[in-house]
Amino acid sequence: MAKTKGRGVLQAKDGKIAITVNINGREQAWAVAPGEYLLDALRREGYKGVKRGCDNGDCGTCTVLLDGKPVLACMMFAAQAHRRRLLTIEGLGDPNHPHPIQEAFVEAGAVQCGFCIPGMVLVTKALLDQNPDPDEPAVRRALDGNLCRCTGYVKQVEAALLAAKRLKASQGGN
Ligand code: FES
Ligand code: FES
Repeated sequence: MAKTKGRGVLQAKDGKIAITVNINGREQAWAVAPGEYLLDALRREGYKGVKRGCDNGDCGTCTVLLDGKPVLACMMFAAQAHRRRLLTIEGLGDPNHPHPIQEAFVEAGAVQCGFCIPGMVLVTKALLDQNPDPDEPAVRRALDGNLCRCTGYVKQVEAALLAAKRLKASQGGN
């Protein structure tokens, strides 16, 4: 038997723990190993938009949103997601229906190989949900845990500011 703080007692069966998670708006039941990392569980379940970079908490490519806040999926156990809300890049948009943040990243030229982009986009989403009108230092602070091997980071900052402007305009601001 394993416990999750404030979220009831988790039952272990056959060496696995039964958890329920809300992923991208859908409730799912998972059986996870006690020491299984969220990154491994997500990729095993088909959420390949969640990238494995350093596997060590340093690069930010495995970022997902947990109850709206960025977390590193390589640094938390899957069982810790029990009864919580996860957003992965698959839940934000797709090539046919991109989210305005994804459109802004493409338009600003921020996407090169694309490996870091799911994490960057999700961090931007968390920032803009909390602060719809960030200045450049705020964007830089939000993105500073996300490494990119291709760019000089300028385009990604521009993309986040462009996304903020677009989202504000679409919500009736200017
Ligand atoms: S893969 Fe998780 S921070 Fe690098
Ligand atoms: S675009 Fe290639 S790692 Fe960032």
